[in-house]
Amino acid sequence: MSHPHDRIIIFDTTLRDGEQCPGATLNVDEKLLVARQLARLNVDVIEAGFAFASQGDFNAIQRIAQAVGTENGPTICSLARARKEDIKAAAEAIKPAAKGRIHTFIATSDIHLQYKLKKTREEVLEIAPEMVAYAKSFTDDVEFSPEDAGRSDPEFMYQVLERVIDAGATTVNIPDTVGYTTPAEFGALIRGIKENVPNIDRAIISVHGHNDLGMAVANFLEAVKNGARQLECTINGIGERAGNAALEELVMALHVRRQYYNPFLGRPAESEEALTQIHTQEIYKSSRLVSNLTGMLVQPNKAIVGANAFAHESGIHQDGVLKNKLTYEIMDAESIGLNANQIVLGKHSGRHAFKNRLLELGFELSEDNLNKAFLTFKELADKKKEITDWDLEAIVNDRIQKVPELFRLELVQVSCGDKARPTATVSLRTPTGEELMDAAIGTGPVDAVYKAINRVVNIPNELIEYSVQSVTDGIDAIGEVTIRLQHGDRIFSGHSADTDIIVASARAYVNALNRLYATLQENEERKVKATAKV
Ligand code: KIV
Ligand code: ZN
Repeated sequence: MSHPHDRIIIFDTTLRDGEQCPGATLNVDEKLLVARQLARLNVDVIEAGFAFASQGDFNAIQRIAQAVGTENGPTICSLARARKEDIKAAAEAIKPAAKGRIHTFIATSDIHLQYKLKKTREEVLEIAPEMVAYAKSFTDDVEFSPEDAGRSDPEFMYQVLERVIDAGATTVNIPDTVGYTTPAEFGALIRGIKENVPNIDRAIISVHGHNDLGMAVANFLEAVKNGARQLECTINGIGERAGNAALEELVMALHVRRQYYNPFLGRPAESEEALTQIHTQEIYKSSRLVSNLTGMLVQPNKAIVGANAFAHESGIHQDGVLKNKLTYEIMDAESIGLNANQIVLGKHSGRHAFKNRLLELGFELSEDNLNKAFLTFKELADKKKEITDWDLEAIVNDRIQKVPELFRLELVQVSCGDKARPTATVSLRTPTGEELMDAAIGTGPVDAVYKAINRVVNIPNELIEYSVQSVTDGIDAIGEVTIRLQHGDRIFSGHSADTDIIVASARAYVNALNRLYATLQENEERKVKATAKV
């Protein structure tokens, strides 16, 4: 295997580590949408899930491997604990991909060994290479991670790494699992590995890290300076707890500051050759897709993809930017694909123009979905004269539902005002096909709608987050509503967009309730199967 030591490999784990965060659960169709977008973004590797974790994860990896894992597409990877049954499931799931990788891991820190694994260092020294060799019997491309590397005894970790590379690991990934290290420490850890693992030249050094102290991206960039050549990251930095290192921040840091980073990769400082193969113009779209599907909102001041990242509010800044962009801008909004927000279609645009623009945006819809989306587009064009790419994207993401519509909203009506008690009437089609209507009074119109919906659906839940944002500027803009609700210890998100924010609010709520209902049904089916086996 060739080792591209002179460029940075982007390993995206949005669908594995990213999806592990509360409420971000995606169904198979949604994962496939994200995977297709990651392929357009041109990531090198997609970690599509943890095959042994659930049948749903297994199916998603397999479908992604089939649909996205083409010869010229990304490598498709599955996570696996250092256990035979995990590795076997991972191998089976990635099989349809032209390029498949198994990523196996076992902890090396004493804390994890003692309390979690209840294993000795000697045992780990045996298991790790044995499981890498087993993974190698399925694919040449095997990655190994010593979990909690950031808190492991480096001398012990060097021994483990040497053995797994001898057993065939082609990538060794160094995770700062708990987000504890500082940039200087993490850089030194990577340097130590380069200097003390005798066969390290036979593997690519990768890094993985969490953002508990807000240092994940800085840690990775320091790791690059010390020899790391693969970065494991997620779109918008979503992931366990404070999240993972954010892909867009890493890629743009390496892009904007390439003259600084070039020499660390053995290139002349002035080289213009990109350090990653990411199509940066796809960054903004990837960010919006992941945020819409997972319900994990992007904070307005988030670097690169936040709503304010390219906005200049103060008079002095605006004046400077008008005179010359370079006064206050270090990168172009266009470089992350923000220029896509142009007026593209209007009320007279036909189905053909609509379909073509969707194709250019990367949406390939079935005939049926295209018809549905076109109808919505026409309705919208009647209300809103100028339709932008963001509007089109909102239509597709909203109307072509990826969540099965077990409950379907048929009608929502509210009356409210400063002298009225906010009252809502809703009608829903239930999973059994019945149409049920109910009404409720609330503290505001949205509260009234949610109370009325709850009277019909009748599944206990608590609304824990509600947000409304406009897709574009102007009074006629589409409003996007994202909500998160809790049922027991699980969180479910919902999303919808409409020019009427009450309608969008109702649909977002039903969307989240459908996710909740689908999960309850799955659990029920599993129970029935388990009882049948006994
Ligand atoms: O954070 C972590 O250590 C992980 C490993 C499985 C790589 O996600
Ligand atoms: Zn992780």
